[in-house]
Amino acid sequence: MNIVILTGAGISAESGLGTFRDKDALWAQYRIEDVATPGAYARNPALVHEFYNLRRQGLRAAVPNAAHFALAELERRHQSGFLVVTQNVDDLHQRAGSQNVLAMHGELQNALCANCGHVWLAPDLMFPEDRCTRCEAMSCRPDIVWFGENVRFLDQINEATQTADLFALIGTSGNVHPAAGLMNLARECGAATVEINLEPSTVAFAADRVILGRATEQVPVWVAELLSE
Ligand code: OAD
Repeated sequence: MNIVILTGAGISAESGLGTFRDKDALWAQYRIEDVATPGAYARNPALVHEFYNLRRQGLRAAVPNAAHFALAELERRHQSGFLVVTQNVDDLHQRAGSQNVLAMHGELQNALCANCGHVWLAPDLMFPEDRCTRCEAMSCRPDIVWFGENVRFLDQINEATQTADLFALIGTSGNVHPAAGLMNLARECGAATVEINLEPSTVAFAADRVILGRATEQVPVWVAELLSE
């Protein structure tokens, strides 16, 4: 049985990391076009770095929660295909022990050189004057996929989704494509689908089963159920 799990900010909320679209969440405090687009970086790189420096500080203080650990345990005990596709730029799945993780929106802990493509571990604070550790260009950016840029691993993600027997969506509002279309794609290709969220996502119509509640409570229960089948 092939399992694909799609996660979003909701799975990391109880680790203390902010979500994007809940009440008082990040996109209520910042405008996407000011901090999360290539245009924003061209206009005001200092503000963009400040936004991601704050996110990186938050991540350094965060630890994986029971939902991340439950998914890592499921992967360890599952006999065949297993993939976590995450929209999150934190590394909490990996730190919980998940092995097969595709971070489709990039990785906050890394810096990326816009000039040569080099990727390295970001310092705590990044500034527009920073130089690439390989080519020395003054074009260092967070290793994040911004709005208007292509998400990563899309071919691999589509293929895994199309061959999934079970697809679970956890802690995402379903507002950002292409991630938002994956559960429906999985269902059209024959997978059983489940959603675990505080509130139903915009794509809950594509879920065979919707479990409402906190990820730290509901994910471990759902994983225990699967492992006992
Ligand atoms: P959102 O903030 O849009 O959605 C968070 C989802 O998590 C909502 O459905 C909440 O109901 C749910 N949620 C909140 N707390 C929860 C909890 N404790 N347990 C379970 N569910 C909970 O975040 P995403 O859908 O991940 O992209 O956002 C998708 C993308 O939009 C992000 O990757 C980011 C953002 O702009 C980029 O920055 C490129």
